[in-house]
Amino acid sequence: MPANAILALKEVGHSFGGLAVLRSVTFDVPEGGIIGLIGPNGSGKTTLFNIVSGYIRPLAGSITYRGAPLVRESIQRRGTAGLVRTFQTPQVFEQMTVLENIMVGCTKLTRTTMLQDLLRTPAARGQMREIRQRAEAACEHFQLGNLRDLPAASLTAGQRRILEIARAVVGEPRLLLLDEPSSGLNAQEIDNLREWIVRLNEQGITVLLVSHDMGLMTVARTVHTLYFGEIIASGDMAAIQRDPRVREVYLGV
Ligand SMILES: Nc1ncnc2c1ncn2[C@@H]1O[C@H](COP(=O)(O)OP(=O)(O)O)[C@@H](O)[C@H]1O
Ligand SMILES: [Mg+2]
Repeated sequence: MPANAILALKEVGHSFGGLAVLRSVTFDVPEGGIIGLIGPNGSGKTTLFNIVSGYIRPLAGSITYRGAPLVRESIQRRGTAGLVRTFQTPQVFEQMTVLENIMVGCTKLTRTTMLQDLLRTPAARGQMREIRQRAEAACEHFQLGNLRDLPAASLTAGQRRILEIARAVVGEPRLLLLDEPSSGLNAQEIDNLREWIVRLNEQGITVLLVSHDMGLMTVARTVHTLYFGEIIASGDMAAIQRDPRVREVYLGV
């Protein structure tokens, strides 16, 4: 594993009910980089994210995060260690306000994750105030300030995606996994999303991005192409688009 890799996957394999979904996937995510993962539907991208974020334990291979083995760590431990993800369908709490949604992202900074517990003691109330202030600042930072007291259910797809990202990064992660963040977004919302990814990366967050949107994917310095569970090509977007195998299997030309 190269010294500058924040995440290293080595020969990761997985299957569901005997059907191989990932076969010997090996690649590194360099610290501070933006790495892309493309591939047709069903090629195993989300499964790989589920494995890295701890929702699934892989049947083969190893994963190293910041120099330590990852696959036995819980989802929560990965979160507190700075590894966070978003979902293909944004996971926001519909009935909670925008501000409350972001506050949920702050709770992983504290020793307890139960909001109710935080309300009981003076120390906990102080912590709650801190969380609120941090969430308010994040709300402004992500230009969600004028929406902050609205229920998440009332947001557009683009706003919802930004909210999900705001909640994911308010705890200052080191590695952010974004699964199809542009799905359901219009061109302007995708441009906005692209700017946020660049800005977050400039602030020091390493990004692993899954996207179908080739325009958005140009933010990635290196893109890996997954096809039926195997990496078939890697390089910058220009090289990927020239690759004959990629053109054949993915771009359909
Ligand atoms: N929990 C699951 N149980 C059974 N099969 C699954 C499960 N999750 C994904 N699959 C299958 O694994 C393959 C890869 O899916 P997925 O990782 O979602 O691909 P992608 O995100 O690239 O579209 C698909 O054939 C899908 O049907
Ligand atoms: Mg997927």
